[in-house]
Amino acid sequence: MPGNQFGQALVLTSWGESHGTAIGGVLDGIPPGIQLNTSLIQQALNRRRPGQSIHVTPRLESDEIEILSGLYDGKTLGTPLSFMIKNSNHDSAAYDSYKNIFRPGHADYGYWKKYQHYDHRGGGRASARETAVRVAAGAIAQQVLTTILDVAPLVRAALVQLGTCTISYDHWDWQEREKNPFFCPDAQAVPVWETYLTKVKDQGRSVGAIIEVCVQNIPAGLGEPVYDKLDADLAKALMSINAVKGVEIGDGFACVSASQGYDEMGNDDELFLSNRAGGIIGGISTGQDIICRLALKPTSSTRQPRQTITKDGHVVTTEIHGRHDPCVGIRAVPIAEAMVNLVLADHLLRWRGQCGEYPILVK
Ligand SMILES: Cc1cc2nc3c(=O)[nH]c(=O)nc-3n(C[C@H](O)[C@H](O)[C@H](O)COP(=O)(O)O)c2cc1C
Repeated sequence: MPGNQFGQALVLTSWGESHGTAIGGVLDGIPPGIQLNTSLIQQALNRRRPGQSIHVTPRLESDEIEILSGLYDGKTLGTPLSFMIKNSNHDSAAYDSYKNIFRPGHADYGYWKKYQHYDHRGGGRASARETAVRVAAGAIAQQVLTTILDVAPLVRAALVQLGTCTISYDHWDWQEREKNPFFCPDAQAVPVWETYLTKVKDQGRSVGAIIEVCVQNIPAGLGEPVYDKLDADLAKALMSINAVKGVEIGDGFACVSASQGYDEMGNDDELFLSNRAGGIIGGISTGQDIICRLALKPTSSTRQPRQTITKDGHVVTTEIHGRHDPCVGIRAVPIAEAMVNLVLADHLLRWRGQCGEYPILVK
């Protein structure tokens, strides 16, 4: 009931607050005997970690994962795998003046109404610090997928819009994405984005972003028919990331003005002649690439003054100081990949539970 759990067959429970001792997770339902490469988990965490470039928050967290249970001799035991990531670099004093006010765009007001007592430091439980847990769990889910499936699904995300700056899809290059601080797949867009975001930061403003996630090599047949459709679970997973205000699958909102809403089918060489559906029909994967997009709002905490109220109802003006990303969408790229890996691994295990062992899955 409390909503700190995600998944049905592969169940992630996350715990911790931004300025507490540590954050962590328990991942239950992992099949036994999976050789877990812990350096891949750490690599995934390093991609999300703050302080990686001048365009993200300078909060310097080492984000080192400690696995506490569920692993022996490098292999999963099939028992709950729990892990912890210490919070080492929090500056709680910076939040003293926000203890009794509701920061606009933050979860403070809702938490106050719901819990009456909450940890306001660094956003507490609502902080995106929690997403480190998702990234660690997503890296484990990815290893579950690659172990079970002959051909590993390739889950990759990129930033396709930063504020008003877009990319050219003709220039899309996955290699490029690893070379710049934005996870941008278009080399020509990068210098424009650099100048733009530097200006935004210097002005004390923030901007939103669009992330596109593409999954290749995913077998057909994953997903449940009604309430737990694969697209419904992906939408929930992506929407649950902090600051996400919209999710699209395939054509998304553009389908409204499209002249057709279906993908024609051909022969074995090219089974589907287009991919408007984004790789999922009737809640079940078709074997085509799964395409999702998510929209993130501009970072709420900026130096610009804004009006709000105190806990006892007085109207005040506040400016939010501290260490913040001018665009949270950048660091959300590995988080989006992690959530998609978790959903896919969960559905693969559900598939096995009901239908049997892979390779019955058909492409
Ligand atoms: C990676 C990441 C980092 C974030 N960092 C900040 C931040 O520094 N300042 C801020 O105002 N919001 C930040 N956010 C967004 C807030 O966590 C989020 O807006 C807030 O908790 C309210 O939740 P909601 O916007 O999802 O409704 C971040 C989000 C992500 C994904």
